[in-house]
Amino acid sequence: MKEIKVRLGSNSYEIHIGSGILEQAGQQLREKGFGGSLVIITNPSVQGLYGDALKQNLTREGFKVIILPVPDGEEQKSLEAAGRLYQELTDCYTERTTPILALGGGVIGDLAGFVAATYLRGVPLIQMPTTLLAQVDSSIGGKVAIDHGQLKNKIGTFYQPKLVISDIAILKTLDPKILSDGLAEVIKYAVIRDRELLGYIENNLDKIKSLDEGVLEEIVFRSAEIKAEIVEKDEKDLGIRAILNYGHTVGHAIESVSDFKVEHGMAVALGMLAAANISNKMGILDKSELLRLNSLIQRVGLPTTMPDLKVEGIIEAIKHDKKVLRGKVRFVLLKSLGSAFITDEVNLSLVKQILADWNE
Ligand SMILES: NC(=O)c1ccc[n+]([C@@H]2O[C@H](COP(=O)([O-])OP(=O)(O)OC[C@H]3O[C@@H](n4cnc5c(N)ncnc54)[C@H](O)[C@@H]3O)[C@@H](O)[C@H]2O)c1
Repeated sequence: MKEIKVRLGSNSYEIHIGSGILEQAGQQLREKGFGGSLVIITNPSVQGLYGDALKQNLTREGFKVIILPVPDGEEQKSLEAAGRLYQELTDCYTERTTPILALGGGVIGDLAGFVAATYLRGVPLIQMPTTLLAQVDSSIGGKVAIDHGQLKNKIGTFYQPKLVISDIAILKTLDPKILSDGLAEVIKYAVIRDRELLGYIENNLDKIKSLDEGVLEEIVFRSAEIKAEIVEKDEKDLGIRAILNYGHTVGHAIESVSDFKVEHGMAVALGMLAAANISNKMGILDKSELLRLNSLIQRVGLPTTMPDLKVEGIIEAIKHDKKVLRGKVRFVLLKSLGSAFITDEVNLSLVKQILADWNE
């Protein structure tokens, strides 16, 4: 098992990464001082695959385990779902010391995290991420949130978990599409911070696709290390943490203009290419670097051509995005693959031109 320490003073915690480590969850929780009751929030499919076995295992270790299932889907990141969970927690007589274990992808992590942050003014949160995206991104860094109508992730807070347990073996049941959503984020980490990781992904792509546990463990570990390092520098997202938005400025706009028909990973892949293209047109990034990124994204099976969406609509969505600061749109651009920087000096007419000329 590999370990990463996220150093945030009294909010510090460890990330445990390894294959089959969910089976030792009881022992890991005891070592962190937990005992007695705990609540697992999960969804029915993850419960069937892993939740019931986890419950048995924890029960054997002497924990009293309550499972609170939530239906699958982004629409569960809502005040209504949180309200139901508050009631269920109250009905089970849980206390301020009773930890909530979020067993699932980013949806469960964000919802259970939001509930843990707010119920009884905060109960301990353990993240047990089960998708690649959740293992490399959403379970680390303490952003917990729900959606409100069209406002995605806009109602939330920062609430760090006490422990993150990322079991690599669990990724084997993921739908390939969900896996490539996570892979888009892994490529993002490599592109903003770690050229060596980029080479590793390129050289091991077949093994990643065939879910080789050793290779998956390595990419989860290196991605989680980068996320942890950035979160340590800027826990509340007031500065350098914005670098994690690489590919997300245009990506989110594409997602929202397509009415979420273009899925997150696909949109981020296009957004990463758009940002690389902007960097190249501004004379900062060499063309060969852009082509290398394009070729990797294509090999992963993520899109490299623009869907049929109105360019004007994408530009408007970019202007309304939360990455706008004092009226200026912030972009993350590249000096080279492995080295990114934040700027608000991008001319939107250049972005418009690049999007309009994309498929020509
Ligand atoms: N808090 C953050 O910092 C942060 C960062 C990025 C994304 N997010 C949020 O994460 C969410 C997306 O997360 P996601 O991509 O993990 O999607 P998800 O949570 O919807 O999971 C995707 C699907 O995979 C299934 N699943 C989960 N684990 C599985 C497994 N091991 N085997 C088989 N099926 C499994 C789920 O039931 C679901 O149907 C969004 O709501 C997004 O806003 C949050």
